[in-house]
Amino acid sequence: MSETAKLILGDETFELPVFEGSEKEKGIDITKLRATTGGYVTLDSGYKNTGATTSAITFLDGEKGILRYRGYSIEELADKASFLEVAYLLIEGELPTKDQLDKFKHSIEHHTMVAEDMRKFYQAFPHEAHPMAVLGSLVSSLSTFYPESQNPNRSKEDVDLTIHRLIAKLPTLAAWTYKNSVRHPVVYPNNNLEYSENFLRMMFSVPAEEYKVDPVIASALNKLLILHADHEQNCSTSTVRIVGSSQANLYASVSAGISALWGPLHGGANQAVIEMLEAIKADGGDTEKWLAKAKDKNDPFRLMGFGHRVYKNFDPRATIIKKACDEVLDKLGIDDPILDIAKKMEQAALNDPYFKDRNLYPNVDFYSGIIYRAIGIPTEMFTVMFAMGRLPGWIAQWKEMLDQKQPIGRPRQIYTGANARSFVDIANR
Ligand code: CMC
Repeated sequence: MSETAKLILGDETFELPVFEGSEKEKGIDITKLRATTGGYVTLDSGYKNTGATTSAITFLDGEKGILRYRGYSIEELADKASFLEVAYLLIEGELPTKDQLDKFKHSIEHHTMVAEDMRKFYQAFPHEAHPMAVLGSLVSSLSTFYPESQNPNRSKEDVDLTIHRLIAKLPTLAAWTYKNSVRHPVVYPNNNLEYSENFLRMMFSVPAEEYKVDPVIASALNKLLILHADHEQNCSTSTVRIVGSSQANLYASVSAGISALWGPLHGGANQAVIEMLEAIKADGGDTEKWLAKAKDKNDPFRLMGFGHRVYKNFDPRATIIKKACDEVLDKLGIDDPILDIAKKMEQAALNDPYFKDRNLYPNVDFYSGIIYRAIGIPTEMFTVMFAMGRLPGWIAQWKEMLDQKQPIGRPRQIYTGANARSFVDIANR
């Protein structure tokens, strides 16, 4: 007999089925809980114990520090694959053959241009606008140029075209967001370059000088994009799935994901890490003082880039990034005082009982910002880089949600407000 869970409510016992995943993870299936118990729901703020879906895309074991996309370890993928290969894997479910990859790349390369009219949108934004605000708006506005994406009953070919357009155009939109912020002319894509190289060229070329892509930098960026490509049901991915569950189009769903990613507790942490390190430096570099602030419950300061909702041992992405970070800094011969503070802070936190007892370790964002900074990416663009990496994951999860024919996402609540009362006329209040 398959396993069940027993729920005792007063005199009654309810049996709940237990669902087991392919890695032996177990979940109590409460799909019929309200109906069978006469209205009970579960209460789980922050969804810390809620499996919102089954998914065959990413496996993560936070205790053991395991992360796999479609069964392949993040270590192997970061070492051997290209970002577009990983994007194909996430979205289509299998590694592409040479022919499939060639076709996929060809399609991406033929959609890297964005409509000229979109350039006018940039001019309307103040040049100090945060790039995540600009990117989210532009991604959403892509649906106005491709209205067929709004049809929920579109063919597989149409869905693929929408997906390819989005993957192809995001680096162009991202680089142009930066160019607009410095009021420089935009650089058009060069489809002879690889995905990461093309982005770097659009970011850093100026009319007077074509940017020469350094292979060490392009390879580090390729790794960073792969490491960020999916992370199962995190805040932004859950947002994409829930927005998509209303049958909103892909551009709108991903734009919502970009907004969710922006927050400093999620993707915005990479920007927050560098800002924190700069603040510590400006304050005289006393890491002990800042560590004490992070531990003080009366102080809202948290050590940015430390801790994770699911990794309670180490973040496997951080291990890979730390190595890539050393390689880039070494190659570029960078001696950055911010890095010294980061290293001091990391060592002090790793040896501190507060962080040890709570299993707080450096996460992916602790190091990614240091690489971006070394490459010359401005701090406010860091979360945009994360968004570029996360895009295939958002798309794969959106597509899976539709293929699973999931119902519209709509959590319940337990109401704690006032009971019914009569309206009081304003003169008597
Ligand atoms: N600095 C100081 N204390 C911390 C930190 C931190 N960075 N993170 C967690 N804690 C403490 C927290 O105060 C709590 O202490 P206590 O048990 O005494 O109340 C305990 O550790 C557990 O924390 P939590 O807030 O219940 O954990 P959570 O799973 O809700 O939050 C987190 C996870 C990532 C939001 C949190 O660790 C955090 O705010 N970290 C800093 C922001 C950051 O680096 N975010 C990027 C995450 S990785 C990129 C991504 O995938 O989004």
